[in-house]
Amino acid sequence: MHSVLSAETIEFQPIGDVRGELVALEGKRNIPFEIKRVYYMTGLSPEIPRGFHAHRKLEQIAICVMGSCRFILDDGRFRKEVWLRTSRQGLYIGNMVWREMHDFTRDCVLMVLASEVYDEADYIRDYEVFRSQASKDEKS
Ligand code: TYD
Repeated sequence: MHSVLSAETIEFQPIGDVRGELVALEGKRNIPFEIKRVYYMTGLSPEIPRGFHAHRKLEQIAICVMGSCRFILDDGRFRKEVWLRTSRQGLYIGNMVWREMHDFTRDCVLMVLASEVYDEADYIRDYEVFRSQASKDEKS
């Protein structure tokens, strides 16, 4: 049983010099899983939220490499809000966490590292189905 919501921010250590900043992301090193997929979102709007789903197995790290946005995370028991405002930070989102992304700045580039390749069957897109699955998982 999870006592705390499985979503937390990770600080990356940038390598910086006069030329600028470099952040390296490596599976099983500063990213807690092997990275099987990377995707990113651009052309986002402040008034159009995204997400509204959970994953049965998938783990992810979301990084705002540019701009900012607000995540709402929910494991069926706890709900929390996280602002991503720096490319030096990643948000780890474990499996069975409902996520919503809001308040994208126009320049936002949201990059996601994922532990598995894309599989629509891993999604739970209905909040009530998610709640009932989360409470079943808690009892088992
Ligand atoms: P979705 O995960 O629903 O986006 P969001 O939660 O950010 O609103 O994905 C949007 C669409 O893109 C959906 O039709 C599935 C497709 N998609 C892929 O084909 N491959 C991928 O790796 C991802 C993340 C989405």
